[in-house]
Amino acid sequence: MIREGSHSDAPIGIFDSGLGGLTVMREIMRVLPEENLIYFGDTARVPYGSKSRDTIIHYVEQILHFMEEKEVKAIVVACGTASAYALESVRHKVSVPILGVVRPGVRAAAAATGNGRIGVIGTEASVNSGLYESLLHGIDPELFVKSRACPLFVPLVEEGLWRDEITTMVAKRYLTEIKGTGVDTLIMGCTHYPLLSDTIREVMGPQVTLVNIGVETARVLSGILAVQGLTKRTIDAPPVYRFYSSDAPEKLCRFGESALRMEIPEAVRISIEDY
Ligand code: DGL
Repeated sequence: MIREGSHSDAPIGIFDSGLGGLTVMREIMRVLPEENLIYFGDTARVPYGSKSRDTIIHYVEQILHFMEEKEVKAIVVACGTASAYALESVRHKVSVPILGVVRPGVRAAAAATGNGRIGVIGTEASVNSGLYESLLHGIDPELFVKSRACPLFVPLVEEGLWRDEITTMVAKRYLTEIKGTGVDTLIMGCTHYPLLSDTIREVMGPQVTLVNIGVETARVLSGILAVQGLTKRTIDAPPVYRFYSSDAPEKLCRFGESALRMEIPEAVRISIEDY
């Protein structure tokens, strides 16, 4: 159980199955530039998108134990798949605020659509969970929702093929049908996807609003910290960012430097199976 009474200068813990959650970290750094942040990427076990619900919950529980050790004051599940499958099952196990990326993304899309037609792309697990549809229909039962799993996007991102002809071909294959349904808003329901947003925009066309779930999540996080009196108070020292992964920390440094546009001198490998 993560302890209560967290101190406002404690870090915020952010995690993903791999490196995509860095897109959420980037947005949190923009909205909350003073905050200390810890990022964990479960790079040894990525992807989560093809795993079962029980496995994903078990992985997330282990990561929460790691975050507990780091005495974080809030946790962001920066993974669409883990947010869809595990968040509600683990919420009661932590006593610090914990939020995922699905609900903020859904609210943003419902607010953005003009024609009531919304596309959702994500991992197989996220799409199969049906959570995006059910939350969107909870807001407005009349919304038309078209979902599509894009399983090759995560490996393309992790390989660094953010702008590449192979990625464009794959994007056309995945997105043509959704585009044909006349959606005016597309939820990028996986935190890896904002790194492909140039390609996705090219295929979908400029008339379609792309929802980056990390942008909305950072805004919601900022509100939660303010309401709970957890916003960092000591603002004279620069923020401290620490990076951890379950495998290949040097890859996280390299990738993170492009995703966050900053130098990452060190990432520490941890044995997540021990948690
Ligand atoms: N970043 C994860 C998500 O948002 C996807 C990667 C995976 O399949 O593990 O769903």
